[in-house]
Amino acid sequence: MSQSPRQMHLGVFVLGTGNHIAGWRYPGAAQSFEDLGVVQEIGRIAERGKFDLIFLGDNLASEPGMHPSFAARFEPLTMLAALAATTTHVGLGATASTTYNEPYNVARTFASLDHLSGGRAAWNAVTSSGEKAADNFGRIHPEHDARYEVAEEFVDVVRGLWDCWDDGAIIRDHATGRYIDPAKVKPLDHEGRFFRVKGPLPTSRTPQGQPIILQAGSSEPGLALAARTADVVFAVVQDLEEAKAGYTALKSRMPAFGRDPDTLAVLPGVMPVVGRTEAEARERLNTLQSFVNTDNALSMLSSRLGVDVSGFPLDALVPELPLPDSSHGFARVMLAKALRERMTWRDLFNLTGAARGHWVICGAPESIADTLQEWFEAGACDGFNILPPYFPGGFDDFVDLVVPVLQERGLFRREYSGTTLREHLGLDRPRSRLFHP
Ligand SMILES: Cc1cc2nc3c(=O)[nH]c(=O)nc-3n(C[C@H](O)[C@H](O)[C@H](O)COP(=O)(O)O)c2cc1C
Repeated sequence: MSQSPRQMHLGVFVLGTGNHIAGWRYPGAAQSFEDLGVVQEIGRIAERGKFDLIFLGDNLASEPGMHPSFAARFEPLTMLAALAATTTHVGLGATASTTYNEPYNVARTFASLDHLSGGRAAWNAVTSSGEKAADNFGRIHPEHDARYEVAEEFVDVVRGLWDCWDDGAIIRDHATGRYIDPAKVKPLDHEGRFFRVKGPLPTSRTPQGQPIILQAGSSEPGLALAARTADVVFAVVQDLEEAKAGYTALKSRMPAFGRDPDTLAVLPGVMPVVGRTEAEARERLNTLQSFVNTDNALSMLSSRLGVDVSGFPLDALVPELPLPDSSHGFARVMLAKALRERMTWRDLFNLTGAARGHWVICGAPESIADTLQEWFEAGACDGFNILPPYFPGGFDDFVDLVVPVLQERGLFRREYSGTTLREHLGLDRPRSRLFHP
């Protein structure tokens, strides 16, 4: 997958007001996720840092109690289409739900983005764990495993639609007046348990052949879907040994689907709080934590755990909790950490307030690079999904202070060697399986 020697892949998780729940209160931080200028600036920083990928999440409901960027934000595909025009290399990834969309629409929008961006589109296929979305679609939120059964077929239909056009189908033959070679476009004619889709799309084969598929589920059916279909997986981690076990377990599922484990990049989410010195980094984290509002942090924690913790005594130790169907990845990892480290509810909500349940590292550039290197070389990941606590400063610090250390150590590219996301990830461009089975 990667060039020799093996190098990291880096993505950036974009929330305009910062990944930290109170990042927007940090002096100089961006104030809005409804601001194209903010996202364009993030695009420029990502390309200066030679990042593989920018990622925009989505929830299909406004959640003002949790995080300012969950309250008010643009529809991610619209935002990425605008960003495609002001960036040239960085991959552009966004979430689209397999529970509240039709595969035809998802296939079409990501195929269009792949054309618009010259081969940089990536789809984060999520099943939508948040029940609030159901109210916006006049639906009853399906159960967890039922959502994944739909997702399995949904992803196949999307990929099938992307394969309906072979390369070279548009011939533009002025002599004969033929624009398209009809032998190179076919319907999909999919008739499955959940979807009936004829195809083809009104969008020709895309620069990447198939846009990249991202996934972030960590339940049993989530891992099965990722092992079969994902190119990149965002992992939730808090502990090196756990991350190594999760990495090995996911990759070991791939050969059963005829896939080489090296064709999947596992990127754990990490919030780096960087200072020029350890003391400066610590002070930054303390400042950010002093801005955390208890109500927001408790709603975020309740949502991540799938259990309403708002009435729990803050200074009591976190007990073993039966976790409901709606939580999974974040909940399991956070609860394991709380029990391992004998945390109180207050400790856990501080942690969730900081990075929404993701891993936080704080320090000077060298020590942050040491930790990332250790994880990468220990077989815990193929790179990282970076969650800057606030933008643009928190991302500038990572790109200008930590990335050069990683480059110096040969762990990360100094220049892009290709122009598509597939090339950054070291993945081959697939041929259409409809035409070349
Ligand atoms: C980095 C990361 C980004 C995610 N982005 C989204 C998102 O944008 N929208 C969403 O509904 N779920 C998102 N999720 C949630 C997962 O995709 C998944 O739905 C959730 O973990 C439940 O799946 P599971 O039960 O298989 O773990 C994200 C998770 C992670 C770790």
